Amino acid sequence: MRSLDEFARRKLDALQSRDLKRVLADTTRRDGMWVERNGRRLLSFSCNDYLGLTQHPALAAAAIEAIRRHGVGSGASRLVTGNHPLYGELESRLARLKGTEACCVFGSGYLANSGIVPALIGPDDLVLVDELAHACLWAGARLAGATTLTSRHNTVAHADALLREHRSRHPHALIATDGVFSMDGDLAPLAALGAVARRHDAWLLADDAHGLGVVGAGRGAAFASGDGTDVPLQMGTLSKAIGAYGGYLCAGRAVVELMNNRARTMVYSTALPPAIVAAAIAAIDIIEGDPDRVARPLAKARVFTRRVGLPAAASAIVPVVIGEAEAALAASRLLEDEGFLAVAIRPPTVPPGTARLRLSFTATHPDTEIERLADLVRTRILRTPLVA
Ligand SMILES: Cc1ncc(COP(=O)(O)O)c(C=O)c1O
Repeated sequence: MRSLDEFARRKLDALQSRDLKRVLADTTRRDGMWVERNGRRLLSFSCNDYLGLTQHPALAAAAIEAIRRHGVGSGASRLVTGNHPLYGELESRLARLKGTEACCVFGSGYLANSGIVPALIGPDDLVLVDELAHACLWAGARLAGATTLTSRHNTVAHADALLREHRSRHPHALIATDGVFSMDGDLAPLAALGAVARRHDAWLLADDAHGLGVVGAGRGAAFASGDGTDVPLQMGTLSKAIGAYGGYLCAGRAVVELMNNRARTMVYSTALPPAIVAAAIAAIDIIEGDPDRVARPLAKARVFTRRVGLPAAASAIVPVVIGEAEAALAASRLLEDEGFLAVAIRPPTVPPGTARLRLSFTATHPDTEIERLADLVRTRILRTPLVA
C-alpha cells in the first residue's frame, strides 16, 4: 500500500532529522562481555548480563536437559497445558529469595507489568508512577485506564502530597516505581515509599529488573535498605542478572492467584519454554550460592565512578549524561573506535536533553579495561583532567 509506506517513511525521516532513528546492529555474544559487531571485537558495557550468566555452563546444561525432557516450546498458555513442572520450582525459588508467600512467572518483564497493573487497578482507581519509571509500568497504568499521576523522581514528599490530595476520591491506589532505575542506576527510597503507601492505604509495586542479583545481597532493591517487607508487590525480570528470559511478580498468595486468573498477559500468552525456566532455576542456585559473584557488578561500577570522579555507583548501572542525541552518538562512536561498546541512549527512552551513555558493569569485566574506559570518558568525553 503506497499510503502505508509513505506514512512509515515520513515518520522515519522525522526521526532521522532529529538523530533519533534507531537501527538494529547484528551483535554476536559468545565470550563473556566481548561482542562482535560490524566485523570488530568490542568489550560491551551495554549488556544487562550483570552476573555473566547468559553463557554460564550450568545454565546451558540445565536448558539442554530441559529440552531433552520436555521439548522446545511449551505448546500453550499456562492455564491450558503449558504449565510444565519446572514452573512450580522456579516460582517457589523466587518467592523464597524475595521473602514472599508466592510468585507468578510471566512471559517477560514487559508482559508482567502490562498484566499486573490492570489486574489490580481499574478505571476508578489511582496510580502514581515515578517520572523515570520504565515504559512498561506506564503501559500497565495506561491499560488499567486509571487516573495516572506523575510522581517527581524519588521524591517521597511529592508522592505523599499527591496521595493526600487525590487518594480519597478513588477506591484503590497504587504507587509504581523502578527499584533500580534502568537509565540512571539510582535506587528508589522503597522503605520511605512503603511507609507513605501504608499511611494512605496504597499498594507499592517495585520493578526490580536491575536489582535482583546485584543489590541487597542479590535479593534486590527491597533488601538494599531494609528487610523487603515494605514492598508487597515485587516485580522483576529473568532477562538481566538471571541471564535467561521472562518476568515475575513475587507477592502474597491471594495476589498471585488473582494474577493467574486475571492478568491478561499471563492468561492469554503462551508459557515460557521449559529450557528458559530451567536456566532461570540454575541462575538462582548461583545467586544464592556465590556471594562473591553477586558483589562484583556493584564493586566494578564503583571502580569506574571513583576513577572518573562521579558519585559512587548505587547499582551496576552508571549514566554518563551527555545532553543532545548527536553528541551522545559521537561519544559512543569515539568509544567504539577504542574497542568499547557503549550504546547511546536517546529520547524518548530518556528525557530530552539528557541523551547519555548508559554503562552497565558486570561480574566479568576486567578492572584494567574499566580503568581504560574511565580515563577515556573523563578526558575525551567529559573533558576533565585525569585523577592522579
Ligand atoms: C526497569 C525495567 N523493567 C522492565 C523491563 C522489561 O523486562 P523484559 O526485558 O524482561 O521485558 C526492563 C528492561 O527491559 C527494565 O529495564
